[in-house]
Amino acid sequence: MKNGKYGIGIIGVGGIARGSHIPGWKKLKDAEIIAVAYISEEKVKEVKEEFDIPYVFTDYKKLLEIEEIDIVDICTPNTTHFPITMDALKYRKHVLCEKPLAVKAEHVEKMMELSKKVDKKLMAAQHHRFRPESIALKKLIDKGYFGEIYHAISFALRRRDLPPRPTFIKKELSGGGPMFDIGVHILDLTYWFMGCPKVHSVKGEIYTKLAKRKDIKGLWGEWDRDAYDVEDFATGFIRFENGATVLLSCSFLANMEKISDFSTTLFGTEAGIKWPDGKIATEKEG
Ligand SMILES: NC(=O)c1ccc[n+]([C@@H]2O[C@H](COP(=O)([O-])OP(=O)(O)OC[C@H]3O[C@@H](n4cnc5c(N)ncnc54)[C@H](O)[C@@H]3O)[C@@H](O)[C@H]2O)c1
Repeated sequence: MKNGKYGIGIIGVGGIARGSHIPGWKKLKDAEIIAVAYISEEKVKEVKEEFDIPYVFTDYKKLLEIEEIDIVDICTPNTTHFPITMDALKYRKHVLCEKPLAVKAEHVEKMMELSKKVDKKLMAAQHHRFRPESIALKKLIDKGYFGEIYHAISFALRRRDLPPRPTFIKKELSGGGPMFDIGVHILDLTYWFMGCPKVHSVKGEIYTKLAKRKDIKGLWGEWDRDAYDVEDFATGFIRFENGATVLLSCSFLANMEKISDFSTTLFGTEAGIKWPDGKIATEKEG
């Protein structure tokens, strides 16, 4: 921390960094973006000028070498989160990493282990936990209003919203399709609402039925059908050690009535609710 401000270094300056992270950090009085790292040479100058940032690198390790950087914010494609986080922690930086934290469970475990070892914070950007309706619901759950929550039905379903960038449709960058991109949001939220129980078993299935078809159009523009190598629909069933279960489905493309369904329905012994905008259902209140 210098002059009462945390030094921020951002790695990856694509859609989410430009649209949310950079404007977000700039709003904070006690944070200053010192450097960004961006893989593309020709974009480096443009980014430096556009956002008025002192240092811009093409090699993220140069950013990690800057001592005044306290927090590294990782906004790169999913499969790069693990190696970049491990490097940032080795340089003794706190890390905020975009979701999903990694594409393999063993990688997440290693990231958590190292963050504890070097005594630096590691946080996944699961921002739905910070929505007012999520915070209010979590308080009610923790007070016991819903009793024992024994089942949830969670959806991150999109009818025709396939993100066309390589980051999301090429497995070597994304690790997978909608389960890795949007399923991870609704699953994280549901898991948090349910008290983060230990997982007993998981079953799942993936499908690529629409994304390769030329007659299917997306609201976010065209994508490369030949390069597309992830699923467009995924479903799963999770059983926790405490006996509770979650049914989860997500899609980039699906033949469904609504444009999207991003929701989780919680079934408790005393009450139930559909997040984000559902009414509480009980014996008394109907
Ligand atoms: N929280 C959310 O709701 C949300 C929304 C969108 C994206 N995301 C996540 O953010 C991440 C990035 O998504 P995006 O939409 O910005 O993708 P994007 O393709 O627009 O941008 C990715 C950027 O990372 C850069 N990059 C790749 N490897 C790099 C490296 N080794 N060093 C430096 N830069 C590198 C690329 O040049 C590109 O600028 C993904 O993990 C995605 O899941 C989260």
